[in-house]
Amino acid sequence: MFSPGEARCDRWQSLAHAAQTLVARAAAGSSTEETLTAVRDLLKPLSIFETFRAFPGEAMMSALKEALARDDYSGFSRIANRIAKAVITGSYRRSANAWKLGEENEAENNDRLLKDYFSTGDLTKPYFEVLIVSDDPTPEQVRQGRTELRQLRRPEDPFIYEAVTVPSFEEAVAAVVMNADVQSVIIKDNFRFKSQFDAPLLRSYLEQHLSQECGSLEPKDYGVALARAIGKIRPELDVYLIVDGAAEKVASRLESKNIRRIFYGIEDLMEIHLAILEGINQRYETPYFDNLKKYARRPIGTFHALPVARGKSVFNSHWIRDFGHFYGANMFLAESSATTGGLDSLLEPTGNIKVAQDKAARAFGCQKLFFGTNGTSTSNKIAVQALVRPGDIVLVDRNCHKSHHYGLVLCGGQPLYVEAYPLTEYSMYGAVPLRTIKKALLDLKAEGRLDRVRMLLLTNCTFDGHVYNVQRFMEEVLAIKPDIVFLWDEAWYAYNRFSPFHRMRSGMGACEALRERYASSEYRAEYAAFQKKHGKIDPKNPKMLDTHLLPDPDAVKLRVYATTSTHKSLSCFRQGSYIMVDDDCWESTEATFKEAFFTHTSTSPNLQLIASLDVARRQAELEGYELVGRAIELSLILRREVNRHPLISKYFTIATNAQMVPAEYRASGLEDFHAEGVSWKTIYDAWATDEFVLDPTRITLLCGSAGFDGTAFKGLLASKFDIQLNKTSRNSVLLQTNINNTRSDIAYLVKVLADISRDLERKLSQDPDEKAAFDARVKSLITDVPDLPNFSRFHDVFRDHPRGKTNEGDMRRAFFLAYDEENCTHVKLHGKEIDDLVREGRAVSAKFVIPYPPGFPIMVPGQVITEDTIEFMRKLDVKEIHGYQAALGLELIKPEKLRSNAKKNGAVQRRPNARKKS
Ligand SMILES: Cc1ncc(COP(=O)(O)O)c(C=O)c1O
Repeated sequence: MFSPGEARCDRWQSLAHAAQTLVARAAAGSSTEETLTAVRDLLKPLSIFETFRAFPGEAMMSALKEALARDDYSGFSRIANRIAKAVITGSYRRSANAWKLGEENEAENNDRLLKDYFSTGDLTKPYFEVLIVSDDPTPEQVRQGRTELRQLRRPEDPFIYEAVTVPSFEEAVAAVVMNADVQSVIIKDNFRFKSQFDAPLLRSYLEQHLSQECGSLEPKDYGVALARAIGKIRPELDVYLIVDGAAEKVASRLESKNIRRIFYGIEDLMEIHLAILEGINQRYETPYFDNLKKYARRPIGTFHALPVARGKSVFNSHWIRDFGHFYGANMFLAESSATTGGLDSLLEPTGNIKVAQDKAARAFGCQKLFFGTNGTSTSNKIAVQALVRPGDIVLVDRNCHKSHHYGLVLCGGQPLYVEAYPLTEYSMYGAVPLRTIKKALLDLKAEGRLDRVRMLLLTNCTFDGHVYNVQRFMEEVLAIKPDIVFLWDEAWYAYNRFSPFHRMRSGMGACEALRERYASSEYRAEYAAFQKKHGKIDPKNPKMLDTHLLPDPDAVKLRVYATTSTHKSLSCFRQGSYIMVDDDCWESTEATFKEAFFTHTSTSPNLQLIASLDVARRQAELEGYELVGRAIELSLILRREVNRHPLISKYFTIATNAQMVPAEYRASGLEDFHAEGVSWKTIYDAWATDEFVLDPTRITLLCGSAGFDGTAFKGLLASKFDIQLNKTSRNSVLLQTNINNTRSDIAYLVKVLADISRDLERKLSQDPDEKAAFDARVKSLITDVPDLPNFSRFHDVFRDHPRGKTNEGDMRRAFFLAYDEENCTHVKLHGKEIDDLVREGRAVSAKFVIPYPPGFPIMVPGQVITEDTIEFMRKLDVKEIHGYQAALGLELIKPEKLRSNAKKNGAVQRRPNARKKS
């Protein structure tokens, strides 16, 4: 399902092998019955899947089947082998020869057309397929249609395409899902809904999830509905509608907004051909990168800073020429510190950076998109500073990346830390439950401080792969605070747009869905019924926590921001990041956003980085669907191989959905991607409903049962097997499959795990002492795990409302208080002094203390340190703890300074600059 391309290669490979066996057995006079059954079993589903693809096409598939029918096994084997090779190597994308056999029956000149087409000398012309949806065409009509399109080809066409025709709505959806080569869809009026094939899962998916598109449809509406359904699955595809009736009427209908063009009849085939190529070209063009390539080819004299530009200081050097040779000339030819020559300015883009950003905004489904060149660490600070004013309350996951905590220090926002659920046995956190967030907001509402809340800031998906039900979260939060800003840190999630599973759980995907929902009359009726039943939201009514709250569609302002580390999961150089915006209040925010962008962005951004942000978008739009699907599929294969392997799974297991998401957040009951009876549809349904799900590409490999702590195992994999991975916890390591991974990578990892397991098995069975020591180590790693400390509270001195129910604090004041050494003292971690201070509630951190792993601050400036935090620190066996030097001890704010500060700042009074209303 996730990677039909890979599955297709496997099946053709198996068919080619089975066909060879058939030939060999027949030649040897052995029984062929069993092999024939195997061949037929393989061929049957392939015959269906291939109807969704242009290659090998109907003629070649018929030739294959006919050879088998007349017991011409060697002919069958020859054709199967030929197709398998073409499919596996992808040669059908480049060579006319691959197509030949099937085209023999077709018109003479077709053969010539094919030859001309593929023999332009430019073998690198990208290939794609056009899906034509047309009612029950005969094979002859399909062939003719294909020939007509081929006749339109011109040598100057930048791309090569072939057409594949399907006769129904359902098959069109299946083709869009199954055939990643499809880039454009031509929908002709009048086709039927039902597929000729039995597709129960697809049918129930359409009924359940696309009922708005497909429910009680008249055939005349199929075209527009299909366009919408395709948009929900692969929004990047170009859809063209050919109608017999009034094209203008369809064009003006709101639902047809994702249709690129509407044509009246087949009035001008050439227009359609050119529209198809133009559509692809719009995605293919990378304005910044294209210009940079041109720029690098021009002779340019430079009289500006940056001697490496054009490479002369490098290639003419006696001593650093190897630097130049290592990176190659283009790296230097494409460098400049000027913003002329079409290079544009990242800080004030008006040329091709602007166009590149606009293209990326379209591709990633947002209103605005900005290129960040210092990682999401900086993008987060930009977003926080752009939106949060000093004194504003920000609900934030304490477990989020440190850039947010520092961002809040810089802008003076007051964090109200909300806790993620702990996964103590793996020494990691999950995600923040909706109930926790609602409780905080309702408490603030009850105390009349909701106006000070500005933002909800969450990481989605988390490092470890917890994915929020973003739509549900935003909906319920908007019901309490209709103008809140959402900042979704999607550092690990740049690919989400290109998987329909992930997209529905992304900031931008959810924003788009909610915008549509709140504009619908159905929602207004739903909201009216909600109001009738519940009246106004009463913050003191505990039932509100368990009620699905609905926002007033007239009051809601959708203000959604997402930051992504493009470099972490797309083809982009390190530090490349996107800031995505979909904000109803953008006009009033643009100026502060610009200020924040100027505050944090270098005036000398790296040009190669900007170019790679442009190129990453091109790839994502044209092959993201296929590559992301493959990354998901690979993760599923790895999960299955490890967890089902009798020996490997004795020592290593990969955490399942159920292990990472407690049952209370899994209404669907989905436990594992490979559990009995689970299909892609079961997974999709779980993703549509559950509070949290696990992204399968985040693979927590539990290594405690093999006696390894995460850090030691990471070291072993790196030093002995050249395997690099993401991060570690006390008893696990985190692996990630990405768009670059291959089946060989998975096979290698499985082999390494099998080798280590065999080695362990042998050692432990030989030496009882070793076995006893091993068992003790495993117990300590798995069961003696320290409790994860919750955020305690800010000291009253740093709270505007110390008696309030919520716990936001002025972290910035605490942070800068510590700039003055006079205010601080160091106390040893192991000793009575700290125990006494903690007991008296007088131990207040002056610093962020961030151990790696787990990588989140267990102390923040101004936080009262409690016993559980000290205990956790004492049990920590990691070497890297930012903000803590063991030799000096913990850095605290001197207790007496807290008192004097309280007097100075009037801790229990409202801060002088706190606004009454935001
Ligand atoms: C959740 C989260 N946000 C932001 C970042 C920072 O991203 P970058 O490395 O692109 O600066 C990270 C880095 O690991 C992260 O885990």
